[in-house]
Amino acid sequence: MQIVRTVAETRAALRALRSKGLTVGLVPTMGALHAGHLSLVRAAREQCEAVVVSIFVNPTQFGPNEDFSKYPRTFDTDGKLLEEEKVDVLFAPGVDEMYPSGSTTFVTVEEIGDRLDGASRPGHFRGVATVVAKLFHIIEPDKAYFGQKDAAQIAVLRRMVRDLNFPLELIACPTVREPDGLAMSSRNRYLSSEDRTHALTLSKTLFHTEQRIAAGTFTARTLIDDAVAALAAKPHIRLDYFRIIDPDTLVDIENVRNGALIAVAAFVGTTRLIDNLLTAPR
Ligand SMILES: Nc1ncnc2c1ncn2[C@@H]1O[C@H](COP(=O)(O)OP(=O)(O)OP(=O)(O)O)[C@@H](O)[C@H]1O
Ligand SMILES: [Mg+2]
Repeated sequence: MQIVRTVAETRAALRALRSKGLTVGLVPTMGALHAGHLSLVRAAREQCEAVVVSIFVNPTQFGPNEDFSKYPRTFDTDGKLLEEEKVDVLFAPGVDEMYPSGSTTFVTVEEIGDRLDGASRPGHFRGVATVVAKLFHIIEPDKAYFGQKDAAQIAVLRRMVRDLNFPLELIACPTVREPDGLAMSSRNRYLSSEDRTHALTLSKTLFHTEQRIAAGTFTARTLIDDAVAALAAKPHIRLDYFRIIDPDTLVDIENVRNGALIAVAAFVGTTRLIDNLLTAPR
């Protein structure tokens, strides 16, 4: 595995791969890797001849009072894991390499980018879209892999790829969960063992909602009211949102018969967690 730190080195590495005619898969991450990330890497490894992973804790997607400076950074362990997955190139730039001083150009996905987590975290998706657009230009992948856990991110990036004519396929991979149902996330490391238990309420509420849909309750309002009541009854959880929405536009829907995205975000202690389920049409 070649570890590259600069845009110039990365372009040279990619030119060498492409001159051999290899298809390229990209997995963008912020590091602190877990099995969710590795599932994306494996999907890329299966579907592409060369795999590039990026590790970059992107400052522009963090709000002023968020955890940019204390975000977990475990580069050595991450590198070993990626080596084991037979990754070809690891791109790990510094902040100055990605944002040379005087950078003033950003990508804004209007409307969708201000919904769901974009509403809770103003400017978040502007940072995400900007850094992902830059990675797409630097690496020029044929396919790029993202996790369904970050459902709003997928909606935002799909729209960006379409609107800006990026010549690549965006692939959404299923959410990887702990055996007890908790969605894997780098930020789970912040949870105390008590908080870790409280955090299970998120996935439990989603699965309960899915069971109610299977049992014939299709009205979003009813499902939401019940879920919000269940979450509000938990003293250790501070709900941000529980929504039933269209997965492409992130707009609320009234009835889940045609399929829906059920999405939740909540603070457990000081840690903000998200989770979601996609339901099939019935
Ligand atoms: N449990 C998971 N299953 C599948 N993909 C995941 C999972 N968690 C994260 N990903 C995906 O990994 C990619 C990189 O995400 P990132 O590095 O932000 O990790 P994260 O676990 O989401 O971290 P954080 O907890 O800080 O949000 C994203 O496409 C994200 O959707
Ligand atoms: Mg994340």
